Amino acid sequence: MRSVAYLFLTLSVAVASPITSLSISSILCHIPILEALCPRAPPPVSIVNPIGLRTAHGVTRYVVKNQLNPAALPPLCPQPNVDLSQVSEDCLDLVLYVPPTAKSTPGGLPTLMWIHGGSFFAGGASNPGLDGSNLAIATNSLGLLPPSSNSMNDNLALQDIMTALTFLHNVLPYFGGTPGTPRLTMSGQSSGASMIRALLGTPAAWPLFNNVWFHSDTIDYGFLTSGALTTLQNAWVEELGCTGSASNCARNMDLEALITHQDNLLSAAPNLGPEYYFASPIRPSPSRDFILYTFTNSSTFPPASDMKPVVLTNVKDEAMPSVYTIFPDSNGPISLDMFEGFLIENIGQNRSNQVLDAPFYQFNSSVDLRTVLQTLSTDEVWRCPAWTLARNLATRRSPGQYTGLFTVGITYPPNVNITECIQPGSVCHQDDIEVLFGTGPTQIPLTQELQARYSSYIRTSIPNALGYPEWQLATSTDVKTLNLGGQPPIPTGACTPTFWGDEILFDYQVNHE
Ligand SMILES: *[C@@H]1O[C@H](CO)[C@@H](O)[C@H](O)[C@H]1NC(C)=O
Ligand SMILES: *[C@@H]1O[C@H](CO)[C@@H](O)[C@H](O)[C@H]1NC(C)=O
Ligand SMILES: *[C@@H]1O[C@H](CO)[C@@H](O)[C@H](O)[C@H]1NC(C)=O
Ligand SMILES: *[C@@H]1O[C@H](CO)[C@@H](O)[C@H](O)[C@H]1NC(C)=O
Repeated sequence: MRSVAYLFLTLSVAVASPITSLSISSILCHIPILEALCPRAPPPVSIVNPIGLRTAHGVTRYVVKNQLNPAALPPLCPQPNVDLSQVSEDCLDLVLYVPPTAKSTPGGLPTLMWIHGGSFFAGGASNPGLDGSNLAIATNSLGLLPPSSNSMNDNLALQDIMTALTFLHNVLPYFGGTPGTPRLTMSGQSSGASMIRALLGTPAAWPLFNNVWFHSDTIDYGFLTSGALTTLQNAWVEELGCTGSASNCARNMDLEALITHQDNLLSAAPNLGPEYYFASPIRPSPSRDFILYTFTNSSTFPPASDMKPVVLTNVKDEAMPSVYTIFPDSNGPISLDMFEGFLIENIGQNRSNQVLDAPFYQFNSSVDLRTVLQTLSTDEVWRCPAWTLARNLATRRSPGQYTGLFTVGITYPPNVNITECIQPGSVCHQDDIEVLFGTGPTQIPLTQELQARYSSYIRTSIPNALGYPEWQLATSTDVKTLNLGGQPPIPTGACTPTFWGDEILFDYQVNHE
């Protein structure tokens, strides 16, 4: 079923240079369609015969920029372990999935925007499982996948997303989106979710979307402080070894060399100080125009009237891929020394002592310490800071906050060789993606439930659907986490209001306050 609709999309698109540090706004202002970000008023967008590809279920997929070959998905941004023939520095792309009913639906369709993950330096809209056809049909909404870009420059990636959002506002009515200001929900996974959290704290972005859904946001890391960003930028210049202007020098360097330098920077980053976690040293950083609110303590929340409904979901075993990649099964269980060494390297001596004294992570000689490390890291980096954020949103009278935990998943392709991830009952980081998109090798009932909840959420800001258990709002004391895939209530464990984030600080509290 590869019928091509003869429609054509004449759109120039921003050059998002993911590695070099050239200023994107100076480029954008010369591209007519993107002038919305510039001081002058944007011209009206004109769309002439966009070419789409008919995918599954009669959905038409449009890739902004791929005018010549509608069957092609956009290239990835340059990143490690991907052949240079498959990447492009010109990688700010949108993939728009339009269900067949779009134009005939009175009042237009709401839009769901998905931002892929990849620790801020990898991933893309062409990654496995991100075909939005099934989801577009199930939710009867428009959907798209803009890749995040990575840059040493201050918030270029956020600017890219806002460019994409502004562009969308202009073109969505053409494709059957809600007229006027579109009804738009932003959703993303891992670093994609962190990007959306950054936009939630950016007043200039507030008019561009209505609701957000965070999948497995690494909230614990926090945003980079400006001092940490400067340190990282200096380390980058040094790593490049340029004499004279670093941005000129980087621009002239070939991509392979740049990616090697970036790999070097990423592996050296933890030595720069405690703010640079090995998982994600490159992160957005508050600046004059971006991330004015960080959601980390009582003084960093927007006024209630400016907050938006938020859904925060996590998977049961977020840290399993990291822990079992660092300590693979082929080497067997780890010793107490290795366990403590890992802990101290990650959270320092003091917090390690506190964690081991607490009742939550007890073990004995018959326990594989990797399971303890897994639970502890999932709590620290993902689960507990999500629940802390939900409680704080409730305290500050946000219009709605919901927490959920996937206790069932579909093994995401990069996890297939992690033996722990394929054990019955394991739900590893990213194993929620194909559940949501309905793109896994097998169908599971949770897909239907999740898509029904999404369909309702993007229309009503409430993730409840007929025939499924009620998802209750988190309160300031009880997060009421929904079990996604099972019945039993989710135990609070160490994510009580008085342990992580209070007695034991999150990384963002240690480093930012
Ligand atoms: C809250 O966080 C901000 C920025 O992260 C920091 O400057 C401020 O001191 C913190 N305030 C409190 C009361 O902890
Ligand atoms: C660790 O705890 C000790 C004793 O409470 C304190 O003096 C020290 O400053 C702490 N170190 C760090 C890095 O927080
Ligand atoms: C060791 O701990 C595990 C998990 O907490 C428990 O199931 C087991 O009974 C304990 N074994 C002994 C010998 O205490
Ligand atoms: C998993 O292992 C197989 C066999 O060794 C290999 O071909 C494949 O590339 C691996 N997949 C990943 C995602 O590592």
